[in-house]
Amino acid sequence: MTGTTPALPLLPGAHLLSVEELGAQHISGLLDLAESYVDLNRQVAKKRDLLRGRTMINLFYESSTRTQSSFELAGKRLGADVMNMSVGQSSVKKGETLIDTAMTLNAMRPDILVIRHADSGAAALLSRKVACSVINAGDGSHEHPSQALLDALTIRRRFGRIEGLTIAICGDILHSRVARSNILLLTKMGAHVRLVAPRTLLPRDIARLGVEIFNRMEEGLAGADVVMMLRLQLERMTGSFLPSTREFFHLYGLDHKKLALAKPGALVMHPGPMNRGVEIDSAVADDTERSLIQEQVEMGVAVRMAILDALSRQLSNSKGGTP
Ligand code: NCD
Repeated sequence: MTGTTPALPLLPGAHLLSVEELGAQHISGLLDLAESYVDLNRQVAKKRDLLRGRTMINLFYESSTRTQSSFELAGKRLGADVMNMSVGQSSVKKGETLIDTAMTLNAMRPDILVIRHADSGAAALLSRKVACSVINAGDGSHEHPSQALLDALTIRRRFGRIEGLTIAICGDILHSRVARSNILLLTKMGAHVRLVAPRTLLPRDIARLGVEIFNRMEEGLAGADVVMMLRLQLERMTGSFLPSTREFFHLYGLDHKKLALAKPGALVMHPGPMNRGVEIDSAVADDTERSLIQEQVEMGVAVRMAILDALSRQLSNSKGGTP
């Protein structure tokens, strides 16, 4: 019940490193496959043996609640042996140590390595050093492809499509890998993407990605179907990007008053973890009529099962084992 085997591969290669490398057909195929896992996850018996015999290692150099636990559940529900290495608290240096750790793990012959790291490019670097499949679970402010896929699944299930929707991504765009992956994915799928942020929190040249830029919520939210809020990534800020978080909430924090500027009934998303009262008001975050935040978490497990399923097809297509 893993869906019908599609004619086209669901991933461009043996890894999932970025949305940039995915075509619209990969994205649609992965979302279709994920739908079958949403159904499976709502049943009492959720377990499959697609990954039986496979070893998956979660290597998280940055803290995580949703991403790590959903990759773990996804692997276990598909029958893999899953090992979690929590290195987030250690003081290891980047570069050499990452590679050393990777080589050590590689020697244990895992099939899939899920990595989160504070350096942009860490997952791609690793994929060139190890013999197994690598999944990028967030690399610095670069990309977080599984988050963008789960956001897309959430949107597609609610609206029946992504194409033609107006989606406003608001807040700390500069430091957000979630924003980058979402911009790439949503524009590939034909959505109109708007970015709403103060100048200091927008990357230079971001308009090149085919998005519209706004500095005021009043303008950026007008007519939006979806308002996607981002966490202020204080840990990635060196220097001062904001006068104060209070001022930020006043200008950019999403409350019901600002949400009323969007399309009537517009839906709200946030990848979590949320800073309540900084980028989002609790009354909006907990409004079950408008907030998709819990649904995003549910979709996260299904999307990660689809990614693992797709990778396992690549593994068995290549050499009948580890690439
Ligand atoms: C995001 C991340 O780690 O990039 N969290 C997540 O995976 N749900 C967003 C964030 O940390 O703000």
